[in-house]
Amino acid sequence: MAELPGVGLITGAGSGIGRATALAFVHAGCTRLSLADLNQKGLEETREQLSSISPEVKVILTIGDIVETTFADGLVDATVAEFGRLDYAVNAAGTIGPWANSQQLKLEDADRIMNVNYRGTFLCGRAEVRAMLKNEPAGPDDIPGQRGAIVHIASGLSSVGREGAPAYCASKGAVVQLARADALDYSRDGIRINCVCPGLTETPLSTNHNDPAMIKALEPVAALHPMGRWGRPREIADAAVFLCSMRASFIQGHALAVDGGYLAM
Ligand SMILES: NC(=O)c1ccc[n+]([C@@H]2O[C@H](COP(=O)([O-])OP(=O)(O)OC[C@H]3O[C@@H](n4cnc5c(N)ncnc54)[C@H](O)[C@@H]3O)[C@@H](O)[C@H]2O)c1
Repeated sequence: MAELPGVGLITGAGSGIGRATALAFVHAGCTRLSLADLNQKGLEETREQLSSISPEVKVILTIGDIVETTFADGLVDATVAEFGRLDYAVNAAGTIGPWANSQQLKLEDADRIMNVNYRGTFLCGRAEVRAMLKNEPAGPDDIPGQRGAIVHIASGLSSVGREGAPAYCASKGAVVQLARADALDYSRDGIRINCVCPGLTETPLSTNHNDPAMIKALEPVAALHPMGRWGRPREIADAAVFLCSMRASFIQGHALAVDGGYLAM
């Protein structure tokens, strides 16, 4: 029995954690996937990688900006139009913006970080819930059925600060609080909403597309993680698969750290 037999939607699927999540969904038996990103080329590469592991997987791509209400609503509408329903969503699209303290950070950059990370997640989550409310509750016989599961990719910086990242930390804190409040609102409807909070993870966002200077600059941060290393996108993706699956059927409003022990300090 597939762990994820239903229809999945992943934002930020053109790169890093979102792409790894799409691959992990297919490994978990998901054969109907709706992928979104600003980056068309990245999305097409993800689709090719999915087809090479599972030729029968059906994928639709939606290119655009999650900050736009019409995009977020249209993405979910397109998913339901193609596959008839939506069962799991992972909201991974995000941005870090320039490293700068609040005196140096331009207001337009601060606003963009907040808009992508918080507003975009809010808009996508709202549209995803709307679609999931139309599902009949389903699941194993011995557990009350659920209508859907949503995972927001937040951050370790949702709960601890980092110098040079005031807007990013604020935006990621907001994402965790959004998940908690939505979890309370939709628990009785059988929709679970949780977060994964990655530590430093090796992706184009953190390495600035494999820039050796950036990797060197972040090595001390990686060393701060008790496990002494960067996370791999697949390790974050596996946690998102778990939270979407019925194995996590009683996990609600939770922020799961996947960070080599960073938040245990
Ligand atoms: N890499 C890390 O160390 C790390 C740590 C903690 C949390 N995160 C979070 O994980 C998530 C994924 O990041 P990643 O490291 O895989 O980065 P990434 O840059 O590799 O992937 C992010 C993807 O989101 C897309 N995106 C950005 N803004 C968008 C928008 N407005 N609309 C649609 N798509 C948009 C990008 O085009 C990109 O493909 C982000 O929310 C990030 O904040 C990353």
